[in-house]
Amino acid sequence: MLVAVARNAWRIYSSGCLRGCAGKLLALRSRSSYRIISRGLSHNEGHIDHVSLADIEVITEQKDKKRSRGRAEKKNEGAKQKKKTESLKAQTNETNPDDSLTGFYQDLKDMVDQFSNRVDGEYVIFTQVGSFYELYFEQAEKYAGILGITLTRKQLKSQSIPFAGFPDYKLDKYLRLIFSKGLKAVICNQRRDEFSNVITRPIDRIVSPGTVVDEGLRDYNRNNHLLAITFPEEPFKHSVMEGKIGLAWCDVSLGTFYVLETNFENLMAAITRINPSEIVVDSKFDIEYLYSGKWHPQFTDLKSYYTTRFQVPSTKRKLQDYASKFADNRKLVLSTFDLLKQKEISASNLLLNYIAECLPNYSTNFQLPTRSLPSEVMQIDPRAAKDLELTETIRGGMRVGALANIIDRTVTNPGARLLSSWLLMPSTNIKEIKQRQHFITLMLKFGSFTGELIQLLKHTADISRIVRRIDNNRAAFAEYLEISSTIRYLDNIYDLIKERPEIFKVFSPIFKVFIDDASLHKLGTHITKTIDSSVTLKTNDNNNNNNNGPRPDITIAKTNWNIKADASKRMHTLRSKYDDCLEKYNQLLEDLAKQLCEGETTDLSLIRHLKTGEFLVNVRIKNKKSKELIENIKYEKKYHTRTSVKLQVPEWKELGNRMVAIENNIAIEEMNITNELKAKIFRHNDSIKEMSPIIELLDTTQSFANMAQEKNLVCPIVDKTTDFDIVEGRHLVVEEGLQDRSMGVANFTSNSCKLKNGEAWVITGPNMGGKSTFLRQNALIAILAQIGSFVPASYARLGIIDKIFTRVGSSDNIFKNQSTFMVEMNETAIILREATERSLVIVDELGRGTSPQEGVSIAFASLYTMIEKNKSKVLFATHFGTDLKKYIDKYPEAKKAVEFYKTDLEELHDTSIPIDKRIIFHHTLSKGLSTHSHALLIAELAGFPKSALEIARKSLPEEMSS
Ligand SMILES: Nc1ncnc2c1ncn2[C@@H]1O[C@H](COP(=O)(O)OP(=O)(O)OP(=O)(O)O)[C@@H](O)[C@H]1O
Ligand SMILES: [Mg+2]
Repeated sequence: MLVAVARNAWRIYSSGCLRGCAGKLLALRSRSSYRIISRGLSHNEGHIDHVSLADIEVITEQKDKKRSRGRAEKKNEGAKQKKKTESLKAQTNETNPDDSLTGFYQDLKDMVDQFSNRVDGEYVIFTQVGSFYELYFEQAEKYAGILGITLTRKQLKSQSIPFAGFPDYKLDKYLRLIFSKGLKAVICNQRRDEFSNVITRPIDRIVSPGTVVDEGLRDYNRNNHLLAITFPEEPFKHSVMEGKIGLAWCDVSLGTFYVLETNFENLMAAITRINPSEIVVDSKFDIEYLYSGKWHPQFTDLKSYYTTRFQVPSTKRKLQDYASKFADNRKLVLSTFDLLKQKEISASNLLLNYIAECLPNYSTNFQLPTRSLPSEVMQIDPRAAKDLELTETIRGGMRVGALANIIDRTVTNPGARLLSSWLLMPSTNIKEIKQRQHFITLMLKFGSFTGELIQLLKHTADISRIVRRIDNNRAAFAEYLEISSTIRYLDNIYDLIKERPEIFKVFSPIFKVFIDDASLHKLGTHITKTIDSSVTLKTNDNNNNNNNGPRPDITIAKTNWNIKADASKRMHTLRSKYDDCLEKYNQLLEDLAKQLCEGETTDLSLIRHLKTGEFLVNVRIKNKKSKELIENIKYEKKYHTRTSVKLQVPEWKELGNRMVAIENNIAIEEMNITNELKAKIFRHNDSIKEMSPIIELLDTTQSFANMAQEKNLVCPIVDKTTDFDIVEGRHLVVEEGLQDRSMGVANFTSNSCKLKNGEAWVITGPNMGGKSTFLRQNALIAILAQIGSFVPASYARLGIIDKIFTRVGSSDNIFKNQSTFMVEMNETAIILREATERSLVIVDELGRGTSPQEGVSIAFASLYTMIEKNKSKVLFATHFGTDLKKYIDKYPEAKKAVEFYKTDLEELHDTSIPIDKRIIFHHTLSKGLSTHSHALLIAELAGFPKSALEIARKSLPEEMSS
C-alpha cells in the first residue's frame, strides 16, 4: 500500500488498486510538496520527483515490521487502556487471566470467542501478520493438528499463548483442507489506517466452498454454485404439494444469479441440477427435522451437502437494498425484482445477506436474476446422479472415472461448465435435442472446419471471470487484453463459419448480437491500442524474476510500460520526454564507459542507491588497468569496495532525478488511463458477457462431435413414444477402463435392451457377470441421448424419459442415521410414489438387507408396482431370480410384462490353471434365468483362504454344490 501525503491532504491508494495494475505502483498527486510513506516508512521529504516508486517497495520490506508493530501497539494502547478500565470495573472477586493481553491479542481473543459461540458453523480464524497467517489461543490448539502445522507458544509480557502459523502463499492449500472438514475460514488481512497509519486486521472475508473467490481454489471447468433455500414458515400447515420452497443461487466469481420457486416433491431434483457447492438456510429453521426425512424421505440427502445455517444478522437488508449489486439502472433492477415470486425474493434476500457478510469487500456485479431451470428437463435426483457417477465417482468423489470426465472434450472453461451442467439436466424437449444433434452432425461432416474451430476456441478467454476480476482489481493487464483477443477470435470464428453456407445457416444466429455490436468491437480495438501486449507479458516475467532475491540497487531507465505511449496525449508527451532522457542516458553511459572502462559498458551501470536514494555510477573493477583508470578520475568516489566503486557524477544526478520524475508522472497517467478503461469495460458489461454463450455452445458441440468420432457413437432417434430400444449398447466408462488395461483393444461386450412402458427385464447371473454395468449403461445412454449427444450403441431409438430413478447397491448410511434396509426402503418408496410411464427405473439387488424370504417378497412387490401401477420401464438385477420368478409366475399380468435375461460364467475344470484364467465371464446377455451365482468361485478369485472355502463348499446344500 502506498500513501502519499500532501501538506494538507492525505491520499491513500489501496493494495487493491495496485493489484489492478498488475502489481505496479502508481498513484501520486503532482501538486506541491509530498512526503511519501510506504508501509509505514517515512522515506523522503521534499519533492515527489526525488522518490522512485520502485524504491519504496523494496525499502519497506525491511523496516516495515518494526514500525508497524510500534504503531499497532500505540493504537492498541487506547484500546488496552479502555479494556483495562473495563476489566477493573468487572473485577469483583476473581481475576481474568486475559487481562494482561495487549490490545492486539485481546482483539484476537474477542474474535475467537465471538466465532466459537456461533451456531451456524465452525470457523477457523486466519490472521495475517506480515507474510504469515496465524492462529491463536484455543484455535491454534484445536486446528494446528488438523492443518498439520506446528503448535507453539508465543511469549507475551506476562504470559505465553498458544499459536500456530503458515506462510501466506500456502493459504489455498489450508483452505482446501478446512473445507474438506466442513469448516469455514475467517480471513483477517493486515490493513493500514488511512489517517493514523495504524495497522489493523479486520475481517476481509469469510470463506466457505460457495464463497470462494481465491483463484487457486476455483475450478473454472465447473460452476461453483452457492444456493440459498427458504422453506415455508409453517410447513405443517401446508400439504406437501402446496408448501412452496424458494431457491436462489449464484456463482460469485462469475456473477450469475438464478431463482426458482419449487415444491417439496421437486426440490431434490432441482438441487441435483444446480449442483451447489454450498447450501445456505436460515439458522432459525429446524433443519434437523428436515434432515430426518419426516417431511419428505428424499430430504435426508440434504445432509450430504456442505450446508450453512446462516444466522441472519439483525441488520438484515431488504432485497431492494441490494439493487446496486445487479446494475446501475435501479429502475430496471426493481422492475425485475417485481417479477419474482414471494419465495424467490426471500431466498434471494437470504443469499445476498449471506454474501454481504462473507465478502464485505468484494464487488459482486450480478446479472439480473433469471428463473433458470427450464421446465422441460429430465429429473435426476441426487441419489441417481451419484449412483450413475455422472459428475463424480461413488467411491472417493473423484472426477476422474465419472461420466462427465470421460465425455469432456471441451477446450474452454465456459464450454466445460455448460457440458457439466447439461449432464445434470438432460432435456425432454425433442426439438431442442434434435437441434443439438444437428449441430454435432454438421461438425462431424465438416471435420476440417471443426479442427480449425477448436484451434480458434482455444484462444478465447473466460470472459465472465475476467470482467469480475477487473471489477475487483484482481486482473492483470494481460487479462484486459484477453477481452480484445476474444472479440478478435470470435470474429475469426465467424469468418470461418461464413466460408461454409451449410454451417453458416445453422450457427450464424448465435453470432447475431455479437457481430452487430459495433461498440463492443470498438472497445476491443481500444483495449489493444491502450495496453502494450509485448510489455505486459514481459513485465509479468520480470515481476517473477524480481522475487528471486534482494536487489542491492535500483537501476533506472525503464523500457517496459503497461500502457502504450500513444494511449493519450499526455502519455505521449511524457513518453517522448522519457525517451529523450533514455537517449541521454545511453549517451552518458557510453561517454562514461569510454572514460572509465575502456569502452565496455557492461562494466558500468547508472544506479540509484537503495538506502540513500543517491544517483551513482557503479563501476566494476575488473583488473589492474581498470583500477588505475578509476584512481585517476575526477569524480567523487562515494563507496569503494574491492571489486567496485560508486561514483557521484553530476550529470547522472540531474538526469536520474528527471527520469524518476517522469516515471512517476507516467505511473499516474497509467492509472488514469486504466481507470477510464475499466469504466468503459463496465459500460459494455452486458455485451461482453454475450460472448460467453457463443463459446459455450460451439465448444460443447465440438466436444460432442469429437467424442462421437472417437468412441464410435451413433445419433439416437428421440421421439414421443415410450419405447426404449438400444442395439449393442456400451458403458463408456467401463469400456474406457477395459481399453486402458488391454492397450487400446476394446474388450467390452455390447448388449441390447428393448423395453416399453410397463415392462421389466430381470437380469440374473454370476457375481462379476456385468449385471450392474448393464443396468447403468442403459440409464447413461438415455441421459446422453437427452443432453443431445450421440450414444454408445449401433442403433438407439428412445421415447423421451421424464425421470430416471436408481436403487443401487446396499450401502447403509450411518451419517444419516439410517440402516441398510431403511435406506433401501426409503429410496424404493420414493420410486413407487413418483415414477411415471415415461420413467426409467434401475433396481440393483433390492431386498438384500433383510431375511431372504421377506426380501424377495418386498422385491417382487416393488417390481410388480413399478410395472403395473407406475407403468415405468424397469431394469431389475437380482441374485434371487429363481424365487422372484416363482412370485411372478403367480401373476399372469406380471408374467407377461417381465422378461428374464442372464449373463454367464464358464469354469475350466483343469485345476492346474490359475483361478483367474480358469474362470471366463460371458458378459453377453441371453434369455433365461441364471440359477447359480458362482459366489464361491468369485471368493476364490478374490483370494479367500482355502480352509474357509472348503467350509463354504461343505455347508452348501447338496443341489447347489454340483
Ligand atoms: N459388458 C461387459 N463387457 C466386458 N466387461 C464387463 C462387462 N460388464 C461388466 N464387465 C466387467 O465386469 C466387472 C463387474 O461387473 P458388474 O459389477 O456389472 O457385475 P455384477 O454382475 O453386477 O456383479 P455383482 O453380482 O457382484 O454385483 C466390471 O467392472 C467390468 O470390468
Ligand atoms: Mg452388481
